[in-house]
Amino acid sequence: MFKPTLKALACALALGAASLAHAADPIVIKFSHVVAEHTPKGQGALLFKKLAEERLAGKVKVEVYPNSSLFGDGKEMEALLLGDVQMIAPSLAKFEQYTKQVQLFDLPFLFNDIQAVDRFQLSPEGQGLLKSMESKNITGLGYWHNGMKQLSANKPLREPKDARGLKFRVQASAVLEEQFKAVRANPRKMSFAEVYQGLQTGVVNGAENPWSNIYSQKMHEVQKYITESNHGVLDYMLITNTKFWNGLPPDVRSELEKITQEVTVEVNKQAEALNQGDKQRIIEAKTSEIIELTPEQRNEWRDAMKPVWKKFEGEIGADLIKAAEAANQAQ
Ligand code: LMR
Repeated sequence: MFKPTLKALACALALGAASLAHAADPIVIKFSHVVAEHTPKGQGALLFKKLAEERLAGKVKVEVYPNSSLFGDGKEMEALLLGDVQMIAPSLAKFEQYTKQVQLFDLPFLFNDIQAVDRFQLSPEGQGLLKSMESKNITGLGYWHNGMKQLSANKPLREPKDARGLKFRVQASAVLEEQFKAVRANPRKMSFAEVYQGLQTGVVNGAENPWSNIYSQKMHEVQKYITESNHGVLDYMLITNTKFWNGLPPDVRSELEKITQEVTVEVNKQAEALNQGDKQRIIEAKTSEIIELTPEQRNEWRDAMKPVWKKFEGEIGADLIKAAEAANQAQ
């Protein structure tokens, strides 16, 4: 008679202790990304970890997985939706399965510079896009800059005709495919982790990247020429799983929101300097010749690539394109 009761008591005590221990377990946020640590996104992820673990000590633990070490860019979105990671920051070129509007950012020669990109991202239209995928369980927490893209190849690219017939690696984006088709080149979708080898073995002949991605992946070692084309932008949306985020204790969520805002400001302040530093390091490495375009040459590229806008205007929305163009005028 006594025995089972004691057993039951011990059991209840053990269960109680387990649930107490559970209550004290920190919430683990896995942040997975595909670039190196010394890049705007890599630094942003580390700063997020630092601030979250300082200000929510014991409540939140952040694990950062750089360089596609946990999930490559073909898999990270799926992993976020399945709850295998809680935060990622894919490039804006990687959202077309979830929203056609974000394709806006891939339109060639839409933004004159990163300041214009910044103005658009902070506009009501830009901020609206952060919330446009909540029905798909994706919440945007902010935009992080990397920077403007440069074209690279093993032959000098000065005019659009120089790109004819070359195979260019592109991110998983229909707009970027069309951009290269517009200059009669052959686009090839490839995940970021495969680009260096693809260039080295000649599976592709060229690519488009901001300086920080070129340098941190050593692409300059396998590309003889880099054209400073600034023809498009490669930025990120910091995203989380909507259900996960809304299920956080309110005090934790509001602190994390504050932290993501602070980190966003910091990443966007540092990104341009980081890219310019990497451009300098590439020059010093003397592996690649950097080609500057004359205004006329740049106009030729723009004229050749701009017809792509019309093809996607229906999916993106003419008003959104107008709002983005308006951001080229400083207020
Ligand atoms: C790429 O695939 O080129 C980029 O999206 C990688 C990155 O995250 O910067």
